[in-house]
Amino acid sequence: MPMLPANTVHVWIGSLKRDYGPFVHMLSPDEQQRAARFVFEHLRWDYTVAHGLLRQTLSTYLDVKPEAVRFKVGQYGKPRVDSTALRFNLSHSGELVVIGVCRDREIGIDVERVRALDDLDLIAKYHFSPREIASLNVLPAEQKQAGFFNCWTRKEAYIKALGLGLAQPLDQFAVSLQPGKPAELLYVEGKPEEPGRWTFTSFTPEPGYAGALAVEGKDCTVSFFTVPVNA
Ligand SMILES: CC(C)(COP(=O)(O)OP(=O)(O)OC[C@H]1O[C@@H](n2cnc3c(N)ncnc32)[C@H](O)[C@@H]1OP(=O)(O)O)[C@@H](O)C(=O)NCCC(=O)NCCS
Repeated sequence: MPMLPANTVHVWIGSLKRDYGPFVHMLSPDEQQRAARFVFEHLRWDYTVAHGLLRQTLSTYLDVKPEAVRFKVGQYGKPRVDSTALRFNLSHSGELVVIGVCRDREIGIDVERVRALDDLDLIAKYHFSPREIASLNVLPAEQKQAGFFNCWTRKEAYIKALGLGLAQPLDQFAVSLQPGKPAELLYVEGKPEEPGRWTFTSFTPEPGYAGALAVEGKDCTVSFFTVPVNA
């Protein structure tokens, strides 16, 4: 993987709104079956483009054809590339897909389309920790939506980095959320060393979207790239 130094994370940002034809043949039979199970065509389209772009992106690091990338899936559903130090994570929302790539360290990424939520306080009540709810509640009204999506994407990035998904209870750890302040893991119940083990980064992949990245270790540099529209 000559293009990816050990202390570097690459984040690729791509649009899902492109012809999915070129990507169909890249998918494995399993992925094609999964795509076929989506009832709505736009979801089939998004899945196919996201996974095609993922294969295309990983193939450049692995120096193989996109269709030759082999995945294996962890106990809680986190996909990995088989037999390599390359690590990645993928997220999609609205019209965007984001792909984080690094090597020899765990990585989790999340993107959300920022949107008005009538039940924002209720979602926070059921998914955020008491400390996060308290931070959200003291924000001025005009910052609440941004604070909510900071929190949501950072929490998702962390549980995706761990690979546990929702097997990691969401109320047992806290992230920072105040707009304009650094993205941080603040505490994890029973694991005081955890905040010192992770680097968090927030990013705006496009206006109207919130993104967050959680990477193992404290010494990494993050670079952002846009997948060309005709890729
Ligand atoms: C599955 C989950 C890992 C992410 O789901 P999501 O946010 O809906 O979807 P994203 O687009 O961000 O990520 C999906 C991708 O993550 C990867 N993924 C799946 N399971 C994963 C796991 N256990 N760990 C890390 N990555 C995983 C896959 O590449 C997946 O892509 P695919 O579904 O196209 O195959 C899990 O965290 C989840 O179900 N979250 C529910 C949302 C929620 O309640 N959030 C509370 C917010 S605080």
